[in-house]
Amino acid sequence: MSGPCKYLALCQASDVAPGKVIKVEKEGLTLAVFNIDGEFFVTDDACTHGPGSLSEGEVDGDLVECDFHNGAFNIRTGEAVVAPCMIPIKTYKTLQEAGAISIEA
Ligand code: FES
Repeated sequence: MSGPCKYLALCQASDVAPGKVIKVEKEGLTLAVFNIDGEFFVTDDACTHGPGSLSEGEVDGDLVECDFHNGAFNIRTGEAVVAPCMIPIKTYKTLQEAGAISIEA
């Protein structure tokens, strides 16, 4: 039996403009919150390739390019799509409710 879902509130939808990403630190997690045309996605902030921070990267459609070595991930799926990134980035089930962005924790 699994317990009830818990939600972790991260920020307001209005904190993240379309095509942008912000970094949110909550309960020991460092996360990147993306807005793709009004749809919100949350991934780990740390690039799986090295010291890059995806919230400092460049959002291009569904992709985020790490500004460290210019690898890229699919924001929706976490898939590593441009080398040197090989390992997918962790994604979180994201909810938008009453203007607040949360993840299932
Ligand atoms: S640290 Fe992100 S591409 Fe190398």
